[in-house]
Amino acid sequence: MRKLRTAVVGLGDIGRNVAGFLRFDPHFIPQAVVDLDETRAREGARRFRFREWFTDYERVLTSDNVDAIYLAVPHHLHHSMLMKAIDAGKPVLCEKPITIRIDHAEEVAERAEQAGVPVAVNYQYRFDRRADRLIRIVRSGGCGKLISVRCLVPWSREPSYFSHSAWHASMQAAGGGTLLTQASHVLDLALLAINEEPVEAWGWSTSHRFPDVEVEDTAFGSLRCASGAMLQVASTMAAGVERGLSLEVVGDRGSVTYRADAGSPLSIRGGANARVKPPSGIPRGIHALQRSMRAFRNWVVGGERSIHAAATAIPVLRAVQACYTSARNGSVGVPLN
Ligand SMILES: NC(=O)c1ccc[n+]([C@@H]2O[C@H](COP(=O)([O-])OP(=O)(O)OC[C@H]3O[C@@H](n4cnc5c(N)ncnc54)[C@H](O)[C@@H]3O)[C@@H](O)[C@H]2O)c1
Repeated sequence: MRKLRTAVVGLGDIGRNVAGFLRFDPHFIPQAVVDLDETRAREGARRFRFREWFTDYERVLTSDNVDAIYLAVPHHLHHSMLMKAIDAGKPVLCEKPITIRIDHAEEVAERAEQAGVPVAVNYQYRFDRRADRLIRIVRSGGCGKLISVRCLVPWSREPSYFSHSAWHASMQAAGGGTLLTQASHVLDLALLAINEEPVEAWGWSTSHRFPDVEVEDTAFGSLRCASGAMLQVASTMAAGVERGLSLEVVGDRGSVTYRADAGSPLSIRGGANARVKPPSGIPRGIHALQRSMRAFRNWVVGGERSIHAAATAIPVLRAVQACYTSARNGSVGVPLN
């Protein structure tokens, strides 16, 4: 088995989680960590048993010891750091969102394709087996003609979310608040399930808990599809008590509901209960995050294109950006472009 010598770039909240998985996963060699913060890089390398640490991203781009990069840095850096990795021929698993701007996302996906460099985006809920089953049920017509799709993100964040990572609060660096950063996970699942890009959007955003922060802590969006299906998203990081995100798909023959809370089975009603094809593209692994990393590794090592290739992360960005445009301008029916 070929192990992937991996560099973790950005040892913040999620970077440390992934470094922890890599340390114990036999499919990977924890090769290098990179963080602008020298103490984080040095301590991270020691704690997670990585061989090298750097403060300069260029060091992994030019290193013969690094096969692939996991990128977990602030959103506004994704575009330039992805482009550099592609030009250096280094495969990347980038954290969501792929970029903030749609033209940047398209540029990344096209350049990666032209260069033949695997670039994937870590929407790890795609690797939750229940979410995967919901997608396959809906795609195979189990719900019939789709009527309504509802996404709910009842999450809670403390002030430390912004004070520990100041970029989270900045419109320029984060590109948005709960809709882009948190709801995009479940909206991504919804779009994969309906397998159709909405044509227009309506959005509204506000702040309940963090009125002094630039980005919204609460957002709502409605998206209309040409088929007539309506998609709604309600997302907050100001809930008094956090619960897992959920997704409900209702069609004229059946319905299916996914709740991310541990131990919550899919709720399936009506014709949606029919058999669906077995899972594809979901490797083994104890956690969705680990399965996402393994799918990326299988792509790099075995040429098995993963289900989270860069281009597949663009529809959700279009949907989010159209909702933001509507929320900003007070306009209804913003076309997705
Ligand atoms: N998939 C998930 O469930 C999930 C969860 C949390 C965050 N994220 C995503 O992960 C990314 C990082 O978010 P976070 O909350 O971990 O951020 P964070 O602020 O906790 O960590 C970011 C780290 O990047 C480092 N950094 C900044 N610029 C750098 C550079 N040029 N080179 C090297 N290191 C640099 C910072 O020093 C910091 O340690 C974002 O895209 C975010 O949306 C994904």
